Amino acid sequence: MPHYKELGLVNSREMFKKAIKGGYAIPAFNFNNLEQMQAIIGACVETKSPVILQVSKGARQYANQTLLTYLAKGAVEYAKELGYPIPIVLHLDHGDSFELCKSCIETGFSSVMIDGSALSYEENVKLTKQVVDYAHQFDVTVEGELGVLAGIEDEVSHEHTSYTRPEDVEDFVKKTGVDSLAISIGTSHGAFKFKVKPGELPPPLRFDILEECVRRIPGFPIVLHGSSSVPQDIVAEINKYGGKMENTAGVSEDQLRRASKSAVCKINIDSDGRLAMTAAIRKVFVEKPGEFDPRKYLGPARDKLKELYKHKTINVLGSAGKA
Ligand code: G3H
Ligand code: 13P
Ligand code: ZN
Repeated sequence: MPHYKELGLVNSREMFKKAIKGGYAIPAFNFNNLEQMQAIIGACVETKSPVILQVSKGARQYANQTLLTYLAKGAVEYAKELGYPIPIVLHLDHGDSFELCKSCIETGFSSVMIDGSALSYEENVKLTKQVVDYAHQFDVTVEGELGVLAGIEDEVSHEHTSYTRPEDVEDFVKKTGVDSLAISIGTSHGAFKFKVKPGELPPPLRFDILEECVRRIPGFPIVLHGSSSVPQDIVAEINKYGGKMENTAGVSEDQLRRASKSAVCKINIDSDGRLAMTAAIRKVFVEKPGEFDPRKYLGPARDKLKELYKHKTINVLGSAGKA
């Protein structure tokens, strides 16, 4: 398998440096298939945004690791063909073992996350350092995590949040040599992030914890997971066309915009994309029950996804125009 540089991909180092300096965040959009990749690249080329193509362990099992690597290579060529080459990172999301990270590095990934957040602090340091020592030999960047987000990550489900302890971040970064750090300040995974009554606002993020982390590791790249906003108009569309999603809630876009202006330089969004595709597909199925050509429902799903991602780069993360 080729090294990521032969595929035309880049690691996250320069991207993050520029994002911190420029007061914006790079979108990290998850993908599992061709249509999602097309929507991500189409949106980021049109808005001239750098991008992180993010692959979970589950995505790799679903789509096949070789196909995903070559879809990422295809993404690089596709951006050129669309007329504006953008920097693209291929990143492992929530890597849970050294072996998985190693396998991704061997199959063309330019960046990996080792998520030791559920381990003890000492075990997290040990595992993260092992991955960093291996990855850096190949100029692959590594994201670690401190603190636990509520919600579901692959097979792992955490019921409760435990916020990152700012007093740990400096020691963690120093001991592991990690390139970026995911922290827990009140975001969570999935489409059901907070229990709010209709009309109520979700709880604000803990900017005090973020600021204290930044004070202790100034200029160091910070990552936010669980950053879907769960747009209520899209949820309403899903329900209008036969879906059943109740009590959904996400992180407000204003809060993400504010975070993007700080040392938060990577923001992970997956659930919003899932919702957009689901709404578009349900609409076709209800309005055109005789339709059976997958292009006729995957096409509209891809269009809706692309619009959503353009909105994110322009209005939420501020990465539009930065490629
Ligand atoms: O944080 C998890 C991402 O949304 C990926 O989800 O593990 O179901 O592919 P997945
Ligand atoms: P969401 O579920 O909020 O989209 O979070 C995605 C994520 O953090 C991927 O790692
Ligand atoms: Zn995540």
